[in-house]
Amino acid sequence: MKILVIGGGGREHAIVQTLSKSKYHPEIFCAPGNAGIAQLATCVSIGAMDFDALKEFALEQQIDLTIVGMDDPLVGGIVDVFREAGLRIFGPDRRAAVLEGSKAFAKDLMMKYDIPCANSRTFSDPEEAMIFLKEVSFPVVLKADGLALGKGVLICNDMREAHDGIDQIMIRRAFGDAGKTMVIEEFLTGREVSVLTFVDGHSYRIMASAQDHKRAGDGDTGLNTGGMGTFSPSPFYTEEIDRICHETIYQRTVDAMRKEDRPFKGVLFFGLMLTEDGPKVLEFNARFGDPEAQVVLPRMRSDLIDAVNACIDGTLDQADVSFEDNAAVCVVLASEGYPVSYEKGKRIDGLEHFTGEDNRYCFHAGTISAAGQVVTNGGRVLGVTAVAKTLEEARKEAYEAAELIEFEGKYLRHDIGKSIEGVESL
Ligand code: AMP
Ligand code: GLY
Repeated sequence: MKILVIGGGGREHAIVQTLSKSKYHPEIFCAPGNAGIAQLATCVSIGAMDFDALKEFALEQQIDLTIVGMDDPLVGGIVDVFREAGLRIFGPDRRAAVLEGSKAFAKDLMMKYDIPCANSRTFSDPEEAMIFLKEVSFPVVLKADGLALGKGVLICNDMREAHDGIDQIMIRRAFGDAGKTMVIEEFLTGREVSVLTFVDGHSYRIMASAQDHKRAGDGDTGLNTGGMGTFSPSPFYTEEIDRICHETIYQRTVDAMRKEDRPFKGVLFFGLMLTEDGPKVLEFNARFGDPEAQVVLPRMRSDLIDAVNACIDGTLDQADVSFEDNAAVCVVLASEGYPVSYEKGKRIDGLEHFTGEDNRYCFHAGTISAAGQVVTNGGRVLGVTAVAKTLEEARKEAYEAAELIEFEGKYLRHDIGKSIEGVESL
């Protein structure tokens, strides 16, 4: 079996790592991949948005299954292009990926089908958005409609910040065309949880809950990043909350997409806020989270390929989708200065301590091989994950493992998973 994975970050490394343990022993290709992925797969230097070249490669190599890790190609319709060419591919098609690609679409869907979320209004005229600000209470949340590398959300504490925000998103177009339309929504408070699910168009299966740490600094200070670390499961995602989500969120969303003639097949990521009024949806993603995948996938007991095939074939209700009763923590090692400006090309030492055979992993996010040496090539460089019986143990081991890696300007948060201390795990 030949599998092609599309993407080249920590999430794709986690996907490739999981595939490499499959009972089907697939031959794995990854486009474009990275220095870590290259140890497990053949990396092909084709960009994730070059659909024609990817399709040609898949046809030529007779790829049996393609798995898309990233949001941009999904929202851009890579699944449609592959399917038209008769290629088997995992992920939502363009019509379904709009659930992530347009926040205005997602909000309309949630309103129409009574899926709990923050109250909001959508605007395509900045003047109207400015006038609406007179009616809101602060803080208020501004969201660029389209994909913006996870950066298109602004939390504004007063009228001046909100005016600036509208100006930035809609007029100056800081996030490009993603800001043609904008959502203004109520600020919710509570604890955030990410829940990843497999969906086959009709039914869904939960993978595991996780929590990301988006701010750059300890104690949730500093700028927003792509994610500085994760843990799974979230002890705050209790059985009671799980029950409510099954009743009011998950199946309703899957059914809503089918009723809209946009059946969703792939990984559906629910970004939830656990508010005093119950869990509410903050966002949907149409793919594995990054770095959520780096803690969820290493906990998977059943075969990832079976789950993927069941989603494509619509047989998820009969599939074995199971996870170990354990815990994982991932600590991201970043380049000093991230997310603003940072240097690249720093030699990375200590990678040999990670073989993928024990319960610790070093997933590459921004690395490249140069003259036989792995060097830094991005803001987020590596994700060090440890899997253990409990969250506390996983946390301790992840931080110990993070010490084994050295590069100039290595930067990490010290409090990933600290909030779980003293909380009874599920
Ligand atoms: P999103 O891309 O929609 O998940 O937004 C990114 C981050 O902004 C989320 O992970 C939250 O931390 C925050 N956020 C988004 N929407 C809201 C909201 N309505 N209230 C409070 N925080 C929010
Ligand atoms: N960690 C959030 C995301 O993948 O979008």
